[in-house]
Amino acid sequence: MGITSEKMTESSGPIEAIAQALSCAIAAALGEQYRDTDLQIRPSQNPKFGDYQANFAMKLAKQLGSNPRELASKVADAAAEELAAIAEPLEVAGPGFINIRLKNQAIAHMLSSMDNQELGVTQQDDPHTIVIDLCAVNIAKQMHVGHLRSTIIGDALARILERIGRTVLRENHLGDWGLPIAMVLHELLEAKTNLDTLKLAELDSAYRKAQQKAKDDDAFLEAAKTTLVKLQNSDPQLIEDWHKLINCTLTALYESLEILNVKLTKENNRGESFYRDKLPGVIEAFTNAKLAKEDDGAMVVPFDTRERPLLIQKSDGGYLYATTDLAAIRLRTGQSNANRIIYVVDARQRDHFRDVFDAAKLIGWDKTPDGECAELRHIPFGSVLGPDKRPLKTRSGENVTLKSLLDEACERGESEVKKRASDPKAPTHGLSEAELKDIGTAVGIGAIKYADLSNDLVRDYVFDMNRMVRFEGNTGPYLQYAHARICSIFTKAGIDAGVLSSEQFAIGEPAERRLALTLLKYPDIIADVAKTLEPHRLCTYLYELADAYSSFYEHCPVLKAETDSIKRSRLKLCHLTRNVLSDGLDLLGIKAPTRM
Ligand code: ARG
Repeated sequence: MGITSEKMTESSGPIEAIAQALSCAIAAALGEQYRDTDLQIRPSQNPKFGDYQANFAMKLAKQLGSNPRELASKVADAAAEELAAIAEPLEVAGPGFINIRLKNQAIAHMLSSMDNQELGVTQQDDPHTIVIDLCAVNIAKQMHVGHLRSTIIGDALARILERIGRTVLRENHLGDWGLPIAMVLHELLEAKTNLDTLKLAELDSAYRKAQQKAKDDDAFLEAAKTTLVKLQNSDPQLIEDWHKLINCTLTALYESLEILNVKLTKENNRGESFYRDKLPGVIEAFTNAKLAKEDDGAMVVPFDTRERPLLIQKSDGGYLYATTDLAAIRLRTGQSNANRIIYVVDARQRDHFRDVFDAAKLIGWDKTPDGECAELRHIPFGSVLGPDKRPLKTRSGENVTLKSLLDEACERGESEVKKRASDPKAPTHGLSEAELKDIGTAVGIGAIKYADLSNDLVRDYVFDMNRMVRFEGNTGPYLQYAHARICSIFTKAGIDAGVLSSEQFAIGEPAERRLALTLLKYPDIIADVAKTLEPHRLCTYLYELADAYSSFYEHCPVLKAETDSIKRSRLKLCHLTRNVLSDGLDLLGIKAPTRM
């Protein structure tokens, strides 16, 4: 992927330094109007071609009708002086690539600039907020693996955007209002269930009974509709019962979120019910703006580009899922000042979001109070499949509940960790039962989160616990293990990394160079993920980093280095790697134990 000039202003480090020099050189050699050329600077795939390549010459030469190699040489010559301090003489290769190889000293210098708490990550200074719509379970139903994905992905995106300095509002758009809720409430009340002791399983079965009855029995459906009207009119007793129902689901939800290490609490609840008194205003606004029209007694918003309109009010006066989403956008941009609203929702809701976003744009609710156009973005994700490549089900054919899945993950993680701890040489040997359990939970949860985040999100993936908890290959536990191994070097040597802060990095060996260059990529990776909202890019990077580290460790003795200053530099490299790994894992919502 090309690095655009816009991105470069967001990041610092080698790419920015090279870009600045090349932009000036282009302006000097070809004219000021070409200063902002997209330079297409990227890390080289092969050290043979230097550390970075700038690939702009082909496109620019075409535009100017000149020879790309000659153009590249001209720019390289013009940049030579400015880059001399950080790079070896530039090379022009192939049809007009410019290959750049950094000087070891420059690498060492750049490493020390990122060796601080921010790890070189550029902070955005934007007064707008970002809303992330995540989790959004439906009350009265067991949470299933689909909600797990929304929660894991949404939490990771929130952490990444917070990491670049943005204010993120996590909003849990709970399905807590409307006919399905009234139906289950009616069913529970009819069966005289004690709502004070209600359990999730009971609620789930009442939900299914109510769904069935509504199909078979008109009288039941009518009665449920009456219950809905009473609920909508805030009947005090019914509202109290409704709260009990919600609490039952939420208590279970918060237990799961705690195990999952997800930052989402009661404060983040913005369920459908929250918008209930704002729905008439939506219809009114669309009607006044002449953007909605009547269709067979219902209200719809027609679109120029397609035939099917968006239904926003039913002929019986009832509102829809989309009406609530419009009310939510209006508030998120207007009141919460969000210039980015990110919906982490199942790919099957694609059309819904396309319609809702288009309707919001028609009426101008995508604008923040200062007139900025907010980015409305649906992050669609695929399904979690069982070993038979069909949506994950239990043996008896039911949906797999979130709870059972998490229990299994924790058990598997714990058993992996205990197995290792039984070896007297293991750093975990002799730890207490409780400590091993904590590490096991971190490993099991890390395993499922990483498996969820490390693929392109829209792809369906097979839930294979055996593969996920492996300590080898592209898995969460592998990265956690890489981190823990670095920690144990310091423990073994009895060195506190703090004492290294005044020491210098010295880069010499190829494996050291590779590790250092990989570390230097981190700020750009974070900026890139914050923009594309594709967490798998961070996973791929961390895996690459762990790999670069392990070849460094294999080729470059640390505690037995030739000289004391090499030893200290290598310890610093270990320490920086450790910090980047734990920061990156934290952004994915994965804990990094110091012993494994
Ligand atoms: N509760 C919905 C479901 O489970 C998801 C809601 C997603 N968020 C939204 N703003 N529509 O399908």
